[in-house]
Amino acid sequence: MSGPTWLGHHRIERVSCTSTSDLALGLARSGAAHGTIVVAGAQTAGRGRLGRVWASPPGRHLYLSAVVRCPRPLLERSALTLAVGVGLVDAVRAAGAGGAALKWPNDVVVAGKKLAGVLCEAAGDAIVVGIGVNLAAGTDDLPPEVAARATTVEDAAGSPVERAGFERLLLGALEPWLDRFAAGGPAAIVGAWTARMAADLPLAIEQRGRRITGSAIGLDPDGALRLRGDDGVVHRVVAGEVTIAVVPPA
Ligand code: BTN
Repeated sequence: MSGPTWLGHHRIERVSCTSTSDLALGLARSGAAHGTIVVAGAQTAGRGRLGRVWASPPGRHLYLSAVVRCPRPLLERSALTLAVGVGLVDAVRAAGAGGAALKWPNDVVVAGKKLAGVLCEAAGDAIVVGIGVNLAAGTDDLPPEVAARATTVEDAAGSPVERAGFERLLLGALEPWLDRFAAGGPAAIVGAWTARMAADLPLAIEQRGRRITGSAIGLDPDGALRLRGDDGVVHRVVAGEVTIAVVPPA
């Protein structure tokens, strides 16, 4: 995996902040260059998808947001998160967590336990890509309800992973997928995403008040999830509509 050329060329680092995405959104709105990144050692108001809190204790994990100026039509942009997921899972695997896979739309999981997530937010013509990675061994610094469903790169790899080195690995892994998405849109990355999907993971989705259990069978060309329900019916799942959870073993 080669190093990045434009991603992270402008880099801002904080010991702590509310959210690296808050800082990156502000920078994006004031014209920051494509590929500007913000990293922090801790976040006091880290956020995840669907208004959830992203626990961000100091010192141990990676909190990074990048300003991406995406030339795709508005309708395609929500699929950028899938391109990020592909690069992210490649970086996590290259760091030693060979069993890592993607849970739609953009969680990285090992045996159903989450170790990284992506939150994309629009800022005018830019998108701020926020990435949180549980890096260092042990989940005892996370809230108990999060820790029960979480793992870390070090735990999955079984060896130490240094944060600065992982950041370089991540930027190098992400950049080609962001470039591919910019050139070809969702259709250019759905095959790669599907190849890295956690295929056997039992999932439950809540869609318009209805609960459907089943498993992922792939993506439509626009990036929507194809989920085969336990009743055999194939459902199309569109981002933003659903919560999607791993079904715990009986
Ligand atoms: C999710 O899985 O729900 C997405 C989590 C995204 C967390 C990252 S950490 C860096 C950036 N700053 C935030 O406040 N959120 C994202």
